[in-house]
Amino acid sequence: MADDVTITSYRDGPLLVRGPFKMLDQDGREIEVDRDVVALCRCGRSRLRPFCDGSHKLTRWRAPSEAEDRSQVTPRFQR
Ligand code: FES
Repeated sequence: MADDVTITSYRDGPLLVRGPFKMLDQDGREIEVDRDVVALCRCGRSRLRPFCDGSHKLTRWRAPSEAEDRSQVTPRFQR
């Protein structure tokens, strides 16, 4: 369990990733992470993307912590 990576979705806030983990951009370049826990922005307002900078609070962004019901949503795009 100690080596498991967990991702916690916070209500009205970021995704907290608890390591050990490695972050890469889509081209495979490593994104330097200097801690065991990072907050990833999911509101899109951060100036430090992909990391959360607290801007979600200023913009009063809202999202549930739990997963939304996927059966009620039509995907906007397909791979
Ligand atoms: S979730 Fe915190 S700035 Fe986007």
